[in-house]
Amino acid sequence: MSCRANIKLVGCLLAVLQLITPMECLTHSVQTFTNASTLFGQLVTSSTLVWETYEDPKQMQFAVEGGKFISEDEHYPIYVCRVIIDGVPTSGHTEKVQQSHVCVAALAKRSVNEHFDVLMNKGHLGKIAWKPWRKFNAGIPVGAVRIGDDSYVARHQSQHTSSEANAEASATHHGADYYLGRLEQVGLGKIKVVENGLDKYYEEGEVLVETEPFRYELRDINLERNRISRRENSTELATGVLENRGDTYDTMEMVMSYSFDYLQYWGAHEGVAKGLPTKIFEKGSETPAEINWALKHSEKRRENKAVYSKLWPGTAINVTLRGNYVTLDAPYAAKLFAFYYDSESVSRNINAEVRKSFLKEVKMEFSPVYWIENGTVVPTTTTTSTTSTTTHATTTSTNEPTPINEPPLVRLEHVGVKHSGPDSLEKTLSDSTADNEINTNEVPENMSSKDTALAGIGVSGQSSGGRAVAAAAGTLMTYLIVTLMSL
Ligand SMILES: *[C@@H]1O[C@H](CO)[C@@H](O)[C@H](O)[C@H]1NC(C)=O
Ligand SMILES: *[C@@H]1O[C@H](CO)[C@@H](O)[C@H](O)[C@H]1NC(C)=O
Ligand SMILES: *[C@@H]1O[C@H](CO)[C@@H](O)[C@H](O)[C@H]1NC(C)=O
Ligand SMILES: *[C@@H]1O[C@H](CO)[C@@H](O)[C@H](O)[C@H]1NC(C)=O
Ligand SMILES: *[C@@H]1O[C@H](CO)[C@@H](O)[C@H](O)[C@H]1NC(C)=O
Repeated sequence: MSCRANIKLVGCLLAVLQLITPMECLTHSVQTFTNASTLFGQLVTSSTLVWETYEDPKQMQFAVEGGKFISEDEHYPIYVCRVIIDGVPTSGHTEKVQQSHVCVAALAKRSVNEHFDVLMNKGHLGKIAWKPWRKFNAGIPVGAVRIGDDSYVARHQSQHTSSEANAEASATHHGADYYLGRLEQVGLGKIKVVENGLDKYYEEGEVLVETEPFRYELRDINLERNRISRRENSTELATGVLENRGDTYDTMEMVMSYSFDYLQYWGAHEGVAKGLPTKIFEKGSETPAEINWALKHSEKRRENKAVYSKLWPGTAINVTLRGNYVTLDAPYAAKLFAFYYDSESVSRNINAEVRKSFLKEVKMEFSPVYWIENGTVVPTTTTTSTTSTTTHATTTSTNEPTPINEPPLVRLEHVGVKHSGPDSLEKTLSDSTADNEINTNEVPENMSSKDTALAGIGVSGQSSGGRAVAAAAGTLMTYLIVTLMSL
């Protein structure tokens, strides 16, 4: 897709498309001068500025302005441009020729070019300014925009507009109000421009500097509800054995630990610096998440659950914890605020895509009671159960001649900090499924068989519990499954 076609698309379909299909014009990175702790400065790649090959006047909406051109018919902005002449990159300013632009560059003679690069500030989140420069100010200002080699974008005001005595002359002056050229690092430095076809050197002028923000904030996040995609998968988190090696019928307890990766990625955006610390203010979340812009943020999160069950001496059960791991992808619109050390923050509306992966709920599965000694399943009875037998191991052991025990009552409790649960992203959706979840606190302490059935697969079918059961059916056919959701 050509640059030209893309620009038309953007024109028609507004900024949203621009983000999804960034312009594919040929671009070159821009380097700026940074203040290193060493004597000599270093160069860094600008995250917000690029040199872009000129193809179409519509590109100029993002071009960095250097002054005005005054002709009899019109006053129009001139932009910073760059051409490579005899292998040497040199900067100049654009002038209009009919509906197109040319680059008038400083080098030896006035040179007019149709093939050139324009300096673009696409994100409008990089602050750029023309900073006064004097030969004796000492060197290159921090943030100076490099053209090539040891030269930086600079300008000098035209005689006609700078001289107040010449106010009358300036009113009738035709041409650029600033001559755009370069700061050359020769000796203490000098600003070189082309004036009326001649090279001129100045000991003072203005240097283009870019100030980059040091952090961002993302606020007013609105998800595009109808374009959300959601994937779920059931993951085995932990397995353990609860056993009674004592000699009385007693409550056994064990703690099961597991971890999962909590992932968030808020997308990238043209002109927004990759890696900058960013606070994400989501609705329904008290403290903002802190990420690095345009980088995937992953946190290992650890949780513990305690499992209790009354067991007869010499018997045990196998316990498995499964997690419903959810991945959400959604396009969103939001306001991105950029903060600078020395000036006010700037905000801009952006569109990007968010992806989050989180552990939504934890479910417990357990096996029939078996003898520790020989692994044989202990026969159980259904005499006390008035509910569906499908949730009990008894269905698989009805042939056993002498049932001696009731099915075990297994309880799961959360221990310590809880990280799993519906994500804040989900909470912002009106059709949140959070309401359907059974809260831990509602599970009775002593969980009679009635409660066991209530919390079991009979009702969990409405959530992904049913899926987990189906998935596990092959291996866990004989398992008695009790689900405690959202623990
Ligand atoms: C550049 O760095 C030096 C030493 O780190 C510091 O003293 C100076 O203030 C810095 N200048 C600017 C403009 O940041
Ligand atoms: C399920 O999620 C886990 C956790 O990220 C992942 O490691 C695993 O590959 C996923 N499985 C499938 C089938 O997507
Ligand atoms: C319990 O788990 C062990 C492996 O840890 C397995 O060999 C055994 O068959 C399981 N018992 C039952 C009743 O599922
Ligand atoms: C397994 O061990 C238990 C307890 O010692 C015993 O009651 C049971 O009969 C044994 N089952 C088999 C099949 O050996
Ligand atoms: C067990 O729970 C039932 C209600 O489900 C309650 O009536 C009973 O008192 C409880 N027993 C104990 C020991 O907590």
